[in-house]
Amino acid sequence: MTLRGRFGKEMDDRAKAYTASTHFDRRLYKHDIASSIAHVRMLAKQGIIPEKDAELIIMSLISIREEIEQGSFEFKEELEDIHMNIEARLVEKIGEVGAKLHTARSRNDQVATDMRLFTKEAISETVTGIKDLQRALLHVAEDNKRLVMPGYTHMQRAQPVLFAHHLLAYFEMFQRDIERFEQCYQRTDVMPLGSGALAGVTYPIDRDFLAKELGFSKVSTNSMDAVSDRDFVIEYIAAAGLTMMHISRLTEEIIIWSTAEFGFVEIDDAFATGSSIMPQKKNPDVAELARGKTGRVYGHLMSALTTMKSLPLSYDRDMQEDKECLFDAVDTLLSTLEALAPTVATLRVKADRISRAAETDYMLATDIADYLVKKGIPFRQAHTIVSNLVRYATDIGKALHDVDLIDYRRFCPDFENDVKSITLESSLAARNCTGGTAPEEVEKALAAARKTLNGKKD
Ligand code: ARG
Repeated sequence: MTLRGRFGKEMDDRAKAYTASTHFDRRLYKHDIASSIAHVRMLAKQGIIPEKDAELIIMSLISIREEIEQGSFEFKEELEDIHMNIEARLVEKIGEVGAKLHTARSRNDQVATDMRLFTKEAISETVTGIKDLQRALLHVAEDNKRLVMPGYTHMQRAQPVLFAHHLLAYFEMFQRDIERFEQCYQRTDVMPLGSGALAGVTYPIDRDFLAKELGFSKVSTNSMDAVSDRDFVIEYIAAAGLTMMHISRLTEEIIIWSTAEFGFVEIDDAFATGSSIMPQKKNPDVAELARGKTGRVYGHLMSALTTMKSLPLSYDRDMQEDKECLFDAVDTLLSTLEALAPTVATLRVKADRISRAAETDYMLATDIADYLVKKGIPFRQAHTIVSNLVRYATDIGKALHDVDLIDYRRFCPDFENDVKSITLESSLAARNCTGGTAPEEVEKALAAARKTLNGKKD
């Protein structure tokens, strides 16, 4: 379909190749056909085209969809994009009736509608994928409910925490991600169709009917904004970037935990790779690639933001660049979630190694300072006393509970025998503030997480 009426020449092949997008926007075919079918139904209902023409167009669009799905459709790059490819095939099939499809519509409101339909679908799949990962985390947490591990700050052992508490921190991050995607869904769920090229259309269209047909809950309120808004694309990629950032933190820990130095977890053989040269190796490639692909999604965010920067109203062709970055962000996030959830679910947790690590390195020092505070010593002072005590214990190569009470008292006379009853268990149990690592709190958090997963529909 060449629209060369106004031009004296054919388009140069180089310009054609440069501007064509069929090779990547063909994946919008389903959304394009769905929005065309709704559009044609509306045109007939409003008496803009005859009912029998609409029926023929709809039947033909359905058969074009089948051709595409069966692989017999011939995509032509020279037809520029998916919209022109489908319309050209329609006209090829049914002649001039097909040429009525584009009445009261522009490719500008059409592509904006297709992109929103695509993004809504992508958001639903993404939320399902994140929930699968949350389910995997929760499964491992529940299986190791009582396991104590060293909690870290600055990558140094800090205070004992429950392993489940550590995993549930990731559950929280992913819950925020889900909320972000759900909010992004609300802003994506607005229908631009009916905005025409930029100013609206002159035909008596029914936009509410269109929205209902296409499952949009709102209709856009400014035609110029509607054809040129790609905030929803940027929001999706931004939310995907945050999710990947959370994934990169989790996978970094899995990678560190599976080193010989840590030995906290072992990746299941089905999700690990070997080395081509060192026969003994088991590599965490899924986790590493998930960490690595994070950068790629950040890149797409910068790309989408920069494409939209300074674009004057309304539609500009620059906006065709919204697609590849969105598509790749969706594909990267979905495939990462798909591979990572079972990698997490099948992790072998080496409980002995983990709990042994929690017993060393003066992990109870804060609790001993808190003990002195209960005896009336100001915290800062208590901190100094215990710090000196730790130095002494380190110098003589003893754990704190092996230091004699007499020596404790040299640092502070308020120490009594009961200081020896401070244990990992008492340390955990004492942290029973809301959100703390006390077993009862973690039990509540596990139940809440389970409820969040089961309570809401996938
Ligand atoms: N392929 C174009 C895009 O993705 C479709 C809209 C083209 N509109 C136009 N007026 N040339 O943005």
